Amino acid sequence: MTLTVALSAAALVAVGGFLSLTIGNGLFQTRVEQVLQESKQASAEVQKTFTATGNTDVLALQTLVNEVIPNLEQNTANGSRKVALLRSPNQATNQFLQSPISGDLTVSDIPATLRNQVAKTENKLVYRTIYLEADGVMNQSIVVGSKVVIPVAGDYELYLVYDISDAQETLDFMQSTLAIGGLVMILLLGIVAYFVTRRIVAPVERAAIVAEQLALGSLDKRLPERGQDVVAALARSFNKMAQSLETQIGELSKLSKMQQRFVSDVSHELRTPLTTIKLATEMLEARVEELDPKARRALDTLVSQVARFESLLADLLEISRYDAGAVVAEIEPNNLGDVVSMAVSGLEPLAETLGCELILKLPTRPVDADFDPRRIERVLRNLISNAIEHGAGKPVEIQVGRSKTAVAVTIKDLGVGMSRSQMDRVFDRFWRGDPSRMRTTGGTGLGLAISLEDTHLHQGWLQVTSKPNQGTTFRLTLPRRIGGIFTESPLPLGETLSQRSRI
Ligand SMILES: Nc1ncnc2c1ncn2[C@@H]1O[C@H](COP(=O)(O)OP(=O)(O)OP(=O)(O)O)[C@@H](O)[C@H]1O
Ligand SMILES: [Mg+2]
Repeated sequence: MTLTVALSAAALVAVGGFLSLTIGNGLFQTRVEQVLQESKQASAEVQKTFTATGNTDVLALQTLVNEVIPNLEQNTANGSRKVALLRSPNQATNQFLQSPISGDLTVSDIPATLRNQVAKTENKLVYRTIYLEADGVMNQSIVVGSKVVIPVAGDYELYLVYDISDAQETLDFMQSTLAIGGLVMILLLGIVAYFVTRRIVAPVERAAIVAEQLALGSLDKRLPERGQDVVAALARSFNKMAQSLETQIGELSKLSKMQQRFVSDVSHELRTPLTTIKLATEMLEARVEELDPKARRALDTLVSQVARFESLLADLLEISRYDAGAVVAEIEPNNLGDVVSMAVSGLEPLAETLGCELILKLPTRPVDADFDPRRIERVLRNLISNAIEHGAGKPVEIQVGRSKTAVAVTIKDLGVGMSRSQMDRVFDRFWRGDPSRMRTTGGTGLGLAISLEDTHLHQGWLQVTSKPNQGTTFRLTLPRRIGGIFTESPLPLGETLSQRSRI
């Protein structure tokens, strides 16, 4: 709107300026022509009168001059003019006639340059624009000069002065009318622009609000569809898009619910046979002495795979509990240092098997915070076991830190690391970096998904930074008090590596 008003104002100023300039010039030119016409007649008549008189007597000539010249004041088509008859300077004759001059005109009003010009020209009118003061205002006037030859007395100059301020008044009036008209025009344009833009902008604004609501999850929001214009077409397309989004998202969420129910049902169904198998295995274990070596080896495999099966099932049950929203954290004041030490000592055997050294760095003061120790230990166990498994036998460093508002643990390995795209998926359910790797030992790929849910339950952060073949650092940050706000983790995550976080 501002742009429309500004541009049209500029255009109007340009057009108005041009108009007033041309009209002004036109008015002035017409007046000048009129004035010159009259002057020509007057000066020709005066010259004729003097040429015709046979009088050589100075007194008689003076009487004639006094009669003819003042008469010129009235003898005009429109308004009055002022008259002056001045003697040309530098003349040989010494016959001086008294120079008649109108009452409110002085010799100094006639520009000297004009006088020079008149003296030099014959039978020609010369004119100049001058400003004469009357009642404190400067009136624009034209002074027209011509040469008159008076017998005996010599060369004289006849000046006729016309007031053309009426042309200026017309111009002023026209300019003020133009200005007022222009202002009204701009105002009207502004109003029109306002209504036109409202018509276009208001539906766009409405669309933006509805799009925002759709983005926030209110998938049933629609735009009103009125009329047949472009805006209505936009609303229709927008609604079609929203409808298709709603249908697709509805279908996806139905699928996802089905999948969740399937996982939950299957894991619950598997519990009974697993318990039976476990009991049977335990019975066999009790009679291990009676088995031959081959059967013993088979039993060993059975025992280890049943244990693995049990842990996989536990993971599946846990994730379906999260999906059902049936998880309640048992939050109590704890020392994070103790929980970390417990997780580390539980994984020492695994670290030893893989030839990996675990370095634990604890602060001297206890790291007290409110959290569910069972869940946080599970998170730490998963992070540390991942570091050991993917650490390529290099030392794994576990550091604990605290600040006023938060506590944190970083688990840093120097192992295989991950690429950017792998880091993007690391918290996804059932995702494993290399499915062929560790098929026999690794889990389902649910470890980090459960860790993330556990962290969210505490309103904490779980972040990762990694680089292929250089290593990975995971950082768990928890608020000191549940519901407490923190903006920074007490421990750094290693700035040189690229980061992915789920906060
Ligand atoms: N420290 C790490 N270094 C390199 N890759 C890692 C690291 N931690 C996790 N990953 C990758 O992330 C994947 C998923 O890890 P997650 O803990 O969720 O599953 P998992 O360890 O394979 O199985 P589970 O934890 O259920 O037994 C792993 O398969 C691995 O590829
Ligand atoms: Mg794991």
